[in-house]
Amino acid sequence: MNPALTDLARDPWLLPQLDALIGANMPAFMSWESPGNWRWHGMYDRYPAHQLCLVDGDGRLVAAANGLPVRWDGTASSLPSGSDEVLVEAVDHGPPARPEALCMLSVSVEPAHRAAGHAERLLTEARHRAAVDGPRGVIIPVRPTRKPRYPLIPIETYAAWSGPDGRCFDPWLRTHLELGARQLGIAAASLVIRQPVERWEAELGHPLPGPGDHVLPGGLVPLRVGEDGHGTYTEPNVWVHHTAAPRS
Ligand SMILES: CC(C)(COP(=O)(O)OP(=O)(O)OC[C@H]1O[C@@H](n2cnc3c(N)ncnc32)[C@H](O)[C@@H]1OP(=O)(O)O)[C@@H](O)C(=O)NCCC(=O)NCCS
Repeated sequence: MNPALTDLARDPWLLPQLDALIGANMPAFMSWESPGNWRWHGMYDRYPAHQLCLVDGDGRLVAAANGLPVRWDGTASSLPSGSDEVLVEAVDHGPPARPEALCMLSVSVEPAHRAAGHAERLLTEARHRAAVDGPRGVIIPVRPTRKPRYPLIPIETYAAWSGPDGRCFDPWLRTHLELGARQLGIAAASLVIRQPVERWEAELGHPLPGPGDHVLPGGLVPLRVGEDGHGTYTEPNVWVHHTAAPRS
């Protein structure tokens, strides 16, 4: 049976499952302190109707998409710098008086339910909602799912790769492009996590004896360790834009 579509405004009891789904789908460091992560639950509080959930017949969360309304004039040059900035603006300053677009910050599908069309369904639902709440459509700082295998390749190069069949190399970027989205540019520092080296060492399970770029499993780019005893992970994303799609 197709899972039912709901959201956190209608079913707030799904919140712990939403946290668990996102947490299990990302490397642990992705939820560490950052300007955006500090405000993640603020997004749930302020914009519960934009937290889309697909729930099976037993009340289990199968997939989710987290978004919020933003101002955006439709040009690549006016895009926010990335997910940190979107969250700071939307949570600290509230919804824009006239939302122009929806920004989708995360899409997660339970591993056992992948490649079943749930991600596409959530993206399509967001496009329908944008027709009402954000007429310029849906903008997404995409985290390409295979990029952690190629951390040394610049994200611009990676995003332009195609496979032998001519389709976009990255499966998640491909889903967006084949749904009709266009790439708008790169969010070079979408999410920035800066922590003492000791915390990164505990996470990695081995010492980081000196400054430099270090391999970070699950990271899209290496971890940069500085002379000041801190390691900084600067996540790049790829901005894509889906047009709004009125319900037929
Ligand atoms: C990104 C994500 C939401 C996509 O969900 P999905 O259900 O896999 O989406 P799709 O069905 O569009 O699959 C995308 C591609 O990956 C492939 N794929 C998905 N799951 C797969 C699996 N378990 N094994 C092999 N291929 C798989 C699909 O076949 C598809 O490839 P295709 O274009 O050749 O058909 C999901 O992989 C996920 O939750 N990942 C972890 C969280 C994350 O990285 N989110 C994105 C950043 S916010």
